[in-house]
Amino acid sequence: MSEKLWIFDTTLRDGEQVPGCQLNTQEKIVVAQALEALGVDIIEAGFPISSPGDFLSVQEISKAVSNPIICALSRAVEKDIEVAAEALKYAKKGRIHTGIGVSPFHIQFKLRSTPEDIIARGVAAVKFARRFVEDVEFYAEDAGRSEPEFLCRIIEEVIKAGATVVNIPDTTGYCLPEQYGAIIASLKNNVPNIDKAIIATHCHNDLGMATANTISGVQHGARQVEVTINGIGERAGNTSMEEVVMAIKSHKSIPVYTDIDTPKIYKTSRLVSKLMNMPVQPNKAIVGRNAFAHSSGIHQDGVLKHRENYEIIDPKEVGVDESTIVLTARSGRAALKHHLDALGVDLEGEELRVVYEAFLVLADSKRDIGRKDLLELVGKYMDES
Ligand code: KIV
Ligand code: ZN
Repeated sequence: MSEKLWIFDTTLRDGEQVPGCQLNTQEKIVVAQALEALGVDIIEAGFPISSPGDFLSVQEISKAVSNPIICALSRAVEKDIEVAAEALKYAKKGRIHTGIGVSPFHIQFKLRSTPEDIIARGVAAVKFARRFVEDVEFYAEDAGRSEPEFLCRIIEEVIKAGATVVNIPDTTGYCLPEQYGAIIASLKNNVPNIDKAIIATHCHNDLGMATANTISGVQHGARQVEVTINGIGERAGNTSMEEVVMAIKSHKSIPVYTDIDTPKIYKTSRLVSKLMNMPVQPNKAIVGRNAFAHSSGIHQDGVLKHRENYEIIDPKEVGVDESTIVLTARSGRAALKHHLDALGVDLEGEELRVVYEAFLVLADSKRDIGRKDLLELVGKYMDES
């Protein structure tokens, strides 16, 4: 039976930390409303203690958005938690996301602490946050490089303290999919009270593994994924929402579903890219300019015979009108004919062959062949024959 996978979007928190991507409160509200329309379950709206602007944004998003849970980040520090709770005052459903570093690196070099103290601080933070909200998520920062037994211990304790969601970040994007899946499996198998909380994935993309790790986490029992639109986020970014959602939709063997209204994906991607001034790479999966563009002759011929020869997703499913057949010097006759037909020019046999020869000469010298070029080519042929 398919289970619900909770989509936790952190575009406005982890995504917005990227230099040059900062948004003002009004822009954040526009993005939050687009995320609500898209069907996101939880919006991480910001880190209220970090600045007055972030505080205001969390507060205003809480007022402007009704359906998703609004989440505010805090460290495992009382003042942070109080400020997060204050910023969430107007949220219909508010969540505090608190946590602490759990890897040997973080414990020793960042927090200069001991494992026992880290557990105590994590537990205290969760208990303190529960005074303000019923929904408390605990993040075990750098869990991807943590020691498995310690991770199980702290997760067991924070669930006892009242955590409703336990987030297992691969903060440095270090894990391979098998390793990340094994971390989630180990929590499922060794933490006695694990079923009292939802396990969340939170993967970074330093090795280009964020989506694969997230899917592996889901296959091993995680039921919340923390993602951003276009995969924006610290360094090489966070897991991209559109990739995870479409991977799940495309593979029925993964026993979960999401409530994302997928035809809204493309326009949400464009909105975030525009407001954050962050271009989407052309070959980006799902939302890149070339994600549904076919340029080699063999592929173009195949896709024109049957779309699914070279496409695993119908572009309409993600809000892209149609696939494109790009005319280049690698295009074949089928592609040229397809474009001529669209212009109302019906050429077959010898006529098509002659125009195609002329087309190849032009395409070798020019990158983009457009409508005007084709009409000129056909015009020349008509004049000559
Ligand atoms: O990557 C990370 O560990 C985080 C936490 C603050 C959740 O972003
Ligand atoms: Zn992160």
